[in-house]
Amino acid sequence: MPADADAAPAPPHSAEGTTGSDTAPCLRILLVGDIYARPGRRAAAEWIPALRRDRQLDLVVANAENAAGGHGVTESIVRKLYAYGVDVITTGNHVWDRAEFLPQLQRQERVLRPLNYPVEAPGRGSIVMPTRAGQPVAVVSLQGRTLMHPVDCPFHAIQAEVERLRQLTPIIVVDFHAETTAEKAAMGWYLDGRVSAVIGTHTHVQTADDRLLPAGTAYLTDVGMTGAQDSVIGVRPDIAIERFLTAVPKRFKPAEGNVQLNGVIVEVEPATGRARRIERLQLAAAAGGGSDDDREP
Ligand SMILES: [Fe+2]
Ligand SMILES: [Fe+2]
Repeated sequence: MPADADAAPAPPHSAEGTTGSDTAPCLRILLVGDIYARPGRRAAAEWIPALRRDRQLDLVVANAENAAGGHGVTESIVRKLYAYGVDVITTGNHVWDRAEFLPQLQRQERVLRPLNYPVEAPGRGSIVMPTRAGQPVAVVSLQGRTLMHPVDCPFHAIQAEVERLRQLTPIIVVDFHAETTAEKAAMGWYLDGRVSAVIGTHTHVQTADDRLLPAGTAYLTDVGMTGAQDSVIGVRPDIAIERFLTAVPKRFKPAEGNVQLNGVIVEVEPATGRARRIERLQLAAAAGGGSDDDREP
């Protein structure tokens, strides 16, 4: 269900008080949850071009940290996602899984790694990307550190980055790739009024707490996963169960079958960067979705 700044009556802490002074049409930005292996790419092929057209999207961001067999992403998959209509690719802790891809993080400026890795790590954590109409939109990939690898503090890192980006554009979208609900919620409140959206990724399960925070930031704890529906966060259930039963490490294999796309569309005032609406997407196809049947994992 969409949360809408115009909906009445307004619940506590809704976006009540939005000025409405910006009469230009809102920008529509789609963020697609972690694309997992070939089933996720099939879902991306099935739905992203149609969403781009039918929902008149101005910018499409997709998290692709698991797009190659659940482990990282490859150069050819990046090209394929661009062809489906993705403008900017965000990632997370799995972006490092394929050593051969790391030089691409230097070359491909539209593929982001989390901002708050040490400066010595390859790649960059943000981009200012013009929409097709020429409106600059900043996208940031950021990672949490509670129950995760102890990267630099995401709160201090994003503080400095938002100050820099706001000199360039009022429209800033943050993909916060984190494990715990509390760290994500804290980030949403920390950035409320300073960015257009804080959207969580990494857990692969969509939460139902989409809302507009009082100072105008769209927030969702986790957008979910794009991949096989009948899975344990993308992995074959029998393998995941065996790992829990035995505690013996076993290589994960992606699940197959029915696919889903999880995403979120945020509508943003172009002049102010203030979010006006947030809508969760859960699309599913019993028949298996699109036709990404390449030889990539
Ligand atoms: Fe993921
Ligand atoms: Fe992750």
